[in-house]
Amino acid sequence: MEKEQQAKNILAKYNQGHIIKILDKLNEEKKEELIDQIIEMDFEQIIDLYNKYKQDELLVSNKDIKNIKYIDKYGINESEREEYKRIGEKYIKEGKYAVVTMAGGQGTRLGHTGPKGTFKIDTVNGDKYLFEIIVETLKKAEKEYGVVIPWYIMTSKENNAQTVEFLKEKNYFSYPEDKIKIFMQNEIPMISDDGKLIINEKYRIKEASDGNGGIYKSMKENGILDDMESKNIEWIFIGGVDNILLKMVDPILVGATVKENNLVASKSVVKAYPEEKAGVFCKINNRPKVIEYSEMSKEMCEQRDENGELLYGEMNILSHMYNIKALYTLADKKMPYHKAHKKSDYMDENLKMIKVETPNAFKFEAFIFDGFEEFNEMTILRVKREEEFAPIKNKTGKDSPETAIELYNKMSI
Ligand code: UTP
Repeated sequence: MEKEQQAKNILAKYNQGHIIKILDKLNEEKKEELIDQIIEMDFEQIIDLYNKYKQDELLVSNKDIKNIKYIDKYGINESEREEYKRIGEKYIKEGKYAVVTMAGGQGTRLGHTGPKGTFKIDTVNGDKYLFEIIVETLKKAEKEYGVVIPWYIMTSKENNAQTVEFLKEKNYFSYPEDKIKIFMQNEIPMISDDGKLIINEKYRIKEASDGNGGIYKSMKENGILDDMESKNIEWIFIGGVDNILLKMVDPILVGATVKENNLVASKSVVKAYPEEKAGVFCKINNRPKVIEYSEMSKEMCEQRDENGELLYGEMNILSHMYNIKALYTLADKKMPYHKAHKKSDYMDENLKMIKVETPNAFKFEAFIFDGFEEFNEMTILRVKREEEFAPIKNKTGKDSPETAIELYNKMSI
């Protein structure tokens, strides 16, 4: 009874009276579950976000935007490249390098039922699951550098059980189990256009993953950073699950970053054409940042430098690397959130599910690249698109299994 009153007080304080009415109609078991969820939830955070974001976000066009400096992997001379390689290889061979795969996404656009890593594609090397391709890259590195690289996988509350079960069933594609750690990212509630939390069909407040930018906090909270530190890991690669050419172990990236004295690095590929819908690296108010295509004017997209190259052409391919110190710093940083307007069915005060046809709620997501502005500088290594970028995002057309397999096959022959 005490707990129930506590939950009701919270709901009243944050103007969520509709949930009080729902609570009063639930059976004891469901009521208790919802009360526990309410007591544990950070209402201040979600209501703050709602108040801040219900108006449109400002475009960045009025800020001081500049292009970013990069190293072209194939534009530098051979001896420089060799030097980066030598420096980077030392870290990898000494076991100071780890890989993290972000696999907490919903893969809505692809429409595969189940975690994206369990999606299977038909390649020249046979049928392969996306997780299997990642393991193959790690095994290749093992052969090359003589070390088994620790592999961390971030899942979401929604897909964790399925991911764990799948990898177990596949015997981790023969990667040593003791080198793998799976951890879960956090969730954040969805909220309706008029500031009300949503009750779903399970009589719970509807929550969704907090975006891939939730990785920094969840790595710390789940003891992943401490685990890495205890293993003397210094450099950590973080990438997505769905780029089947992702090169996760590249000594040149490590060497270049060490040489530039930076704590954070990313690979880029050149935009194929000015209107390509992709985020690009730049500097905003003198800090490294990724600017989204939707935030750029046409002129900005088309601007070229003295060599005729796109001024804002270094495209983000979700291929990032951090020093462990940078990850500890980012874990304590308050990440900005981006809002998306989504359709969300909801339960009304009479416990009836209402189906909606148009977007009626906000979902908040943090983006991993928003962490970069915490640093004055970062290393950008421009790599070849055909060697490192074959994403699977959509069911058909651009960035689909078909286009990605074609690119993958070309690299395998
Ligand atoms: P995307 O932003 O492309 O999202 O994720 P997605 O979930 O794969 O696909 P859509 O947008 O629903 O169609 C880029 C990477 O970030 C991970 C994804 O798993 C992918 O590797 N991610 C995304 C997370 O780990 N957590 C999230 O909350 C969101």
